[in-house]
Amino acid sequence: MYGIIFSKVAGLSAWTALVALSVPYLSETFAPQISSLTSLVADLPIPDHPLAKPLKLFRNTTKSTEEHQHPFFCDVSHPYRTELVSLDPLIIYIHNLITPSEITSLLDTAEPMFKPSVVTKHGRQQQTQDRTSSSAGLPRHDPAVKCVLNRARGFMGTMLRDGWDEMGPPQLVRYRAGQRFNVHHDWFDRPLLANDGSNRVWNRVASFFAILQDNCTKGETHFPHAKPIVLPSPWNEPMWRGGLEDQKLKNATELKPLWREHEDGGLAFRPVAGNAIFWVNLHANGTGDERTTHAGLPLGDGLKTAMNIWPRRYWPYE
Ligand SMILES: *[C@@H]1O[C@H](CO)[C@@H](O)[C@H](O)[C@H]1NC(C)=O
Ligand SMILES: *[C@@H]1O[C@H](CO)[C@@H](O)[C@H](O)[C@H]1NC(C)=O
Ligand SMILES: *[C@@H]1O[C@H](CO)[C@@H](O)[C@H](O)[C@H]1NC(C)=O
Ligand SMILES: *[C@@H]1O[C@H](CO)[C@@H](O)[C@H](O)[C@H]1NC(C)=O
Repeated sequence: MYGIIFSKVAGLSAWTALVALSVPYLSETFAPQISSLTSLVADLPIPDHPLAKPLKLFRNTTKSTEEHQHPFFCDVSHPYRTELVSLDPLIIYIHNLITPSEITSLLDTAEPMFKPSVVTKHGRQQQTQDRTSSSAGLPRHDPAVKCVLNRARGFMGTMLRDGWDEMGPPQLVRYRAGQRFNVHHDWFDRPLLANDGSNRVWNRVASFFAILQDNCTKGETHFPHAKPIVLPSPWNEPMWRGGLEDQKLKNATELKPLWREHEDGGLAFRPVAGNAIFWVNLHANGTGDERTTHAGLPLGDGLKTAMNIWPRRYWPYE
């Protein structure tokens, strides 16, 4: 079915008209047209990799000249720790997903490539007051990128099919004082045509949002529709604390919850470098889960840099 629908629009470039990312917080005057207003977080062009090839999970032992100069060692057994945050939609907090040396390497690679973030609205890529951050595409053959993507792939287990689904092109996003990304979702309203001559279509089945730099105030990631797993106490007692920072990194008096119930509802996650939020974007039938809408709340001071990983599921499976 998708083949028929999408072959008609195959001539359009991947990020024109097809896709949507709703921005419900958009200015009040536009509110009535919200449903027809489309915009999206475009995948940035990846300098060295065609977009639609599934990522092969092997260890490439050939070292480039650059790698010889700045060797990067992938710690394939790096331990991370997970906590369930929400069951439906599934949201998992991952402590220590990305190591300090991976962070350094990713930032070195991306630093010269940051550009103002864009979204696509009415079929045109544009900057908007809904998204004031800057972004940088990451080359998928970069050793640190591969290392992190392989770990994220391992985390997803049987949710992806090897040789068919893929991890997608990752990008970094950076927020400075006052910058934000209003409420949006990462999945596309309609799947996108694979850019590989096939009739396959794909969508972002899940998202990882991993913090690399957290020298900032505010700038939480807010999921307005997310709810804690436990029911509230009938006596208004606090029933949970949203994760605790690793005691290795902070001493006990400094330990602070990593997420909290936001005063406007939902859950808000404090940016902490190395840690990530993982959530599932699509229902089992492939449609987007509205409850995964989220926002990058405005930053107070400082700098917040994060890595977006958007694993792709393809249809039909043949
Ligand atoms: C392996 O890595 C080298 C150096 O980064 C690169 O030139 C080469 O294309 C890679 N090979 C594959 C099959 O990805
Ligand atoms: C723990 O943190 C407190 C408050 O920041 C600080 O005063 C204290 O010196 C720290 N203790 C250690 C052992 O780092
Ligand atoms: C897909 O599944 C969701 C969740 O069960 C449901 O709300 C939605 O109506 C379904 N959509 C279609 C087109 O089947
Ligand atoms: C963190 O941000 C503050 C405020 O912008 C700045 O003064 C400080 O130098 C920064 N520290 C680091 C380690 O970047």
